[in-house]
Amino acid sequence: MSGEFPVDQILRGECIETMKTLPDGSVDCIFADPPYNLQLRGELRRPDETVVDGVDDDWDKFADYATYDNFTREWLREARRILHKDGTIWVIGSYHNVFRLGAIMQDLGFWILNDIVWRKSNPMPNFRGRRFTNAHETLIWAARGPQSKYRFNYQAMKALNDDLQMRSDWYLPLCTGNERLKNEHGLKLHPTQKPESLLHRVLVASTNANDVVLDPFCGSGTTPAMAKRLGRHYIAIERHPDYVKAARERVAREERLSSEHLATTPAKREMPRIPFGSFVETGALPAGTLLYDRQKRLKATVTPDGTLVSGNQRGSIHKLGAMLTNAPSCNGWTFWYFERDGQFVQIDVLRQESQALRNVG
Ligand SMILES: C[S@@+](CC[C@H](N)C(=O)[O-])C[C@H]1O[C@@H](n2cnc3c(N)ncnc32)[C@H](O)[C@@H]1O
Repeated sequence: MSGEFPVDQILRGECIETMKTLPDGSVDCIFADPPYNLQLRGELRRPDETVVDGVDDDWDKFADYATYDNFTREWLREARRILHKDGTIWVIGSYHNVFRLGAIMQDLGFWILNDIVWRKSNPMPNFRGRRFTNAHETLIWAARGPQSKYRFNYQAMKALNDDLQMRSDWYLPLCTGNERLKNEHGLKLHPTQKPESLLHRVLVASTNANDVVLDPFCGSGTTPAMAKRLGRHYIAIERHPDYVKAARERVAREERLSSEHLATTPAKREMPRIPFGSFVETGALPAGTLLYDRQKRLKATVTPDGTLVSGNQRGSIHKLGAMLTNAPSCNGWTFWYFERDGQFVQIDVLRQESQALRNVG
């Protein structure tokens, strides 16, 4: 690697050894889908209880819990060293390993933010009928430490969820159909390929465009593929040559979203402090424009100094909104709507658009 930072590369190698070549604090986010440790005590079964075909794969063989824990501690230690002080890590696991992962993460100083339950909309049934159908996996989301000023794109998550706060239980399908990579025999290329929707949510929630995302267990390349699609950078590590090849081909097929479409809904504190009047001055919302409340029951006219008038009442977008609804206060940005190209649009969109332009610039 000759000391160069291997951004946008899928590296073939052992993850611990390879991570040791990366500088301290050099990645913004980590997504890790480590071996599940399924083969302990002859347990040749996946979390969904299907027999683990094709996992003569050495990647899931550990002699005992101590060996698994030592490996886990080592890769997590390296991951923490590489992670930016304000970065976050996602580690996904099943009941086989997630409790061990979580305890080791806390021991190493990670600060757990959430455990997300990925509820599978189409889980494999429990064929033997001796346990509940295992219908979820757990994602541990943690900051590098308790003081980390980590990124959480709260508004973007809310927008993704029809304007309701995103909860910690995610209902998403398993990776099936065309999304599932096949080998030359038409069989699943990788036994644990994660769905793109899961990585989409992870990346939109916790990273910005152009952030660097590390995946130490790349597998079929779901993380780098989604990172590229969403305009993030990636470094991925995988030791199995067939998976490296398939992941590189997959990422090469992926299109990067054009830069003007990358910005997501900014956090309120990141909203530019743009006075409403400046949209009047620039003609984005010229004097004389009619504004309405959401139900179109109230109406006001924009005046040249940026105040609104409705009948004999006049005030700022916030003050008039409060006066007309007899409320103690009102966020005028989200209260008022205008018509644009036949659409009824919240005036806050103007601020969001100017923020998006800044991000691109
Ligand atoms: C659970 S799978 C990851 C699947 C991936 N998230 C996807 O969507 O395809 C774990 C992967 O880590 C790889 N792996 C296991 N141990 C490794 C190690 N020590 N270094 C590098 N890769 C490793 C395995 O070959 C396997 O492809």
